[in-house]
Amino acid sequence: ANLEKGSVKWASPSNIALVKYWGKKKNQIPENPSISFTLSECKTITEVTFSKKENANFSFDVIFEGENNEAFKPKIQTFFERIEVYMPFLRDYHFKIETSNTFPHSSGIASSASGMSALALCLMSIEQELSSSKIEKPYFNQKASFLARLGSGSACRSIEGELVVWGQNESTDSSDLYGVKYEGEIHSNFKNYQDTILLVDKGEKQVSSTVGHNLMYGHPFAEERFKQAHTNLDVLKNALTMGDFKTFISVVESEALTLHAMMMTSNPYFILMKPNTLQIINKIWEYRKQTASNVCFTLDAGANVHVLYPKSETNSVLQFIKTELVEYCQNQHFICDQIGFGANQI
Ligand code: PMV
Repeated sequence: ANLEKGSVKWASPSNIALVKYWGKKKNQIPENPSISFTLSECKTITEVTFSKKENANFSFDVIFEGENNEAFKPKIQTFFERIEVYMPFLRDYHFKIETSNTFPHSSGIASSASGMSALALCLMSIEQELSSSKIEKPYFNQKASFLARLGSGSACRSIEGELVVWGQNESTDSSDLYGVKYEGEIHSNFKNYQDTILLVDKGEKQVSSTVGHNLMYGHPFAEERFKQAHTNLDVLKNALTMGDFKTFISVVESEALTLHAMMMTSNPYFILMKPNTLQIINKIWEYRKQTASNVCFTLDAGANVHVLYPKSETNSVLQFIKTELVEYCQNQHFICDQIGFGANQI
């Protein structure tokens, strides 16, 4: 259809990697496979209103949480340039992009995964509205993930749930070009897994992920790290099938520390953890020793701590967090989330 105008709206979640993506080749191709839990509560909600225009430039406005936002524009401009070949209608319309997050602004929670996936999904819906034939759901999701990857690598893992793999791996049905829902068997131990995010530092990221990925070029440990991610993915998959908490914990915590180890050993080097990050990690280890708990932590490229635990432990772990860990959070702030099922059209 040759529409004059219309509007589409999507809510898309954030995700937390268990095996980390850190290092990329040209065109947002990952150096190693990664796997993530899709989150449920931490989402970006984006509405795109499109209206036909005459000139051939990209034209869009960004309204973030009700206010005109110039800061996001360069990233979206780059995104449009990258995806133009796959979305030929981009120059024919003006786009009003209205977007907001369910989690607090500048909480240190990365919004690039939820934000870029929400935008990619909106563009797919527009493509659908302009097309005369129905785009089937598997292809719709695959292409949305493909586009999201070109916005922000990890965003390709936010379209579906509950676990998503991205990056080629010998023993997994996956691709470097888009994320795919993990179809392996998942033991009931890992259903409805909980993620409570402890906000240790809400400041701007010290190192953007673009800079971070680039630090893996010529990094002395890069090749070993990329190999290790393949092994860790295989080990983790087996743990997910068997319901093996012990192995799950050792892979997930090691992956988090390895991500930070890569930053600490790059040139230039960075320490993205804060003293309180280490306090929390030590408290979690103590708690695990003293109880039969299977709680563990993971980290993004920042100081905040994701506390992961089985649903059955919710009461006790929340009690532990409230009595022993909140003191290490900025303004006692933490966010309760859990595994989710992916994006939704609104
Ligand atoms: O999607 P990017 O380019 O912002 O990279 C994010 C990488 C990590 O969040 C640190 C790890 C991951 O796999 O999500």
